[in-house]
Amino acid sequence: MTTTTDRSQPPSHSPHLLRWVEKTAELTRPAAIHWVDGSEEEHAELCSQMVESGTFIKLNQDLWPGCYYARSDASDVARVESRTFVCSLSKVNAGPTNNWEDPFTMRHKLKALFQGSMAGRTMYVLPFCMGPVGSPMAQYGIELTDSPYVVVNMRIMARIGAGVLETLRRDGKRVVPCLHSVGAPLAPGQKDVPWPCNPTKYIVHFPETREIWSYGSGYGGNALLGKKCFALRIASNMARDEGWLAEHMLIVGIEDPKGEKTYLAAAFPSSCGKTNLAMLVPPKGMEGWKVSTVGDDIAWIKPDENGRLRAINPEAGFFGVAPGTSVKTNPNAMATLQRNTIFTNVALTPEGGVWWEGMTEEPPAECLDWEGKKWTPEIGRETGALAAHPNSRFTAPASQCPVIDPDWENPNGVPISAFVFGGRRANTTPLVYQAFNWSAGVYAGATMGSETTAAATGAVGRVRRDPMAMLPFCGYNIGDYFRHWITMQHSLSETPRIFRVNWFRKDAQGKFLWPGFAENLRILRWMIDRVHGRALGKETPIGWMPRYDDIEWKGLDYPREKFDHLQAFDREAWHGEVMEHEEWLMGLRDHLPPEIIYERELLICRLQVPNQPGTGAQ
Ligand code: GTP
Ligand code: SPV
Ligand code: MN
Repeated sequence: MTTTTDRSQPPSHSPHLLRWVEKTAELTRPAAIHWVDGSEEEHAELCSQMVESGTFIKLNQDLWPGCYYARSDASDVARVESRTFVCSLSKVNAGPTNNWEDPFTMRHKLKALFQGSMAGRTMYVLPFCMGPVGSPMAQYGIELTDSPYVVVNMRIMARIGAGVLETLRRDGKRVVPCLHSVGAPLAPGQKDVPWPCNPTKYIVHFPETREIWSYGSGYGGNALLGKKCFALRIASNMARDEGWLAEHMLIVGIEDPKGEKTYLAAAFPSSCGKTNLAMLVPPKGMEGWKVSTVGDDIAWIKPDENGRLRAINPEAGFFGVAPGTSVKTNPNAMATLQRNTIFTNVALTPEGGVWWEGMTEEPPAECLDWEGKKWTPEIGRETGALAAHPNSRFTAPASQCPVIDPDWENPNGVPISAFVFGGRRANTTPLVYQAFNWSAGVYAGATMGSETTAAATGAVGRVRRDPMAMLPFCGYNIGDYFRHWITMQHSLSETPRIFRVNWFRKDAQGKFLWPGFAENLRILRWMIDRVHGRALGKETPIGWMPRYDDIEWKGLDYPREKFDHLQAFDREAWHGEVMEHEEWLMGLRDHLPPEIIYERELLICRLQVPNQPGTGAQ
């Protein structure tokens, strides 16, 4: 017997929710309303509907079971930071790093844009939970969207559907309303395009009312509103008010051969190595070590009743960068994405499979590139065209990760012993150093410089300050955010150690000095030994650094001189660096906590060239 579910009827009796859905429908004029229940059956229906409309191509199911392929519009390929707004009541609360507009003006603008924006489409009502359902640290949202692509991606990235709605009804949790439209209404009879979107884009947050409105884009963080919009921009506001941290961090568990387990949380800017570090495979020579993944992008971190920080991953899937992912660099990601995965903007092979730069050493003889055009290695060489877009992504369930941590859904999270801040810098920043203490660590995070990547639209490779990898994601005044970090120490019985890393330092020929990936565990091992008071380090003006002999080299032939180059502390370059710190920090004005000012002064003093008193500080 088959039963058909009528998803046009609301299952919820919350008058507030019904009223909001109704009012939104009055504004956006969808042809139908669909209450998402999250079932297999519904998922299959949405996928086949998207295959029909051209949004999805079903991959060869023998090779890629449960997998689909999507190509976005060429103008809608990444987060749009220039169109992202934090509309707090006062501009000061948004701070100097966020775009701001008066919330009343912005609401007015948005209402005009959303007017009739869903015409001819279905509006999906998508209840979702960030964090394990029922966890005291979980938060709830409802996304109204006219994109079935968003629904099927959110099904992987968050806990969604009927169970969430039921929890909401039972426990009366506060909900973050998220409104999303691709901004491409259909006139009667008008044929749809595979990737509807609008050249006008607005990604807007109202922190006081905890609302998100997103218009014009269907891609990634612009449209999957549980991710950056909720779990970072809105959640950072909640976290400041409630005494916790919402961070752009992976969470990884590391067990040594004796069975001692240590969890680290690490912040790297977009496309700078979180997914890779979160699931690394121990290198040759460190076989007895075990690495397990709790999360690869976002961490919510809160002190427990003993003053110890515990972290949950609010997400349920990985929205990972495809290019560079291979059996060699990240075998666990490759295993995760073998089934039930959505690929966006990678290349499509003639057998109905996917490919991207770096996936295999040999490119396919021929494929269709991310824009659907014929691509061959020759064409690539001649025109410089890439088969996959640099920000092409896979959306894969975290539960499929072979090294997912047994506690990844622990409602109380996992204990965090250290924080790592890592940027992408061709020069200046050494491979690793440990900050002297909490406030020096906050300073190191707050002043982190990193080269821009394809994860956001705009120039790539430009060094910018990306404090704690949160520049595009902190939903309030960044100076107040530093203050929040500083004061978090007061609620902790023991502070986690703080480290800075840079896997991306290059030699004079422009080649990476450090092999990275699996070998990064050697550096994490030193950190863990430092955390447990077992490893030595050398004091330098910027912090504690491992000497060559403090690192485990078994299985890797890495010469001492090369390591010295990698760790080189260049006083001149650091003079330039602190000048840039000043330029960056001065813009924060009276929101800058005094600890940050003093840390900079101390750093300047320590940077003084020996035998030349008076340089630098005056
Ligand atoms: P978002 O999902 O955008 O937040 O990115 P992410 O921080 O998770 O970055 P990811 O791990 O996906 O890595 C981004 C790119 O950096 C990929 O092309 C990786 O191959 C590359 N990468 C990651 N780790 C290393 C490393 O240790 N060394 C080098 N050289 N490249 C790395
Ligand atoms: C990032 O840009 O940091 C991402 C991808 O993780 S997105 O979901 O688009 O934000
Ligand atoms: Mn990210």
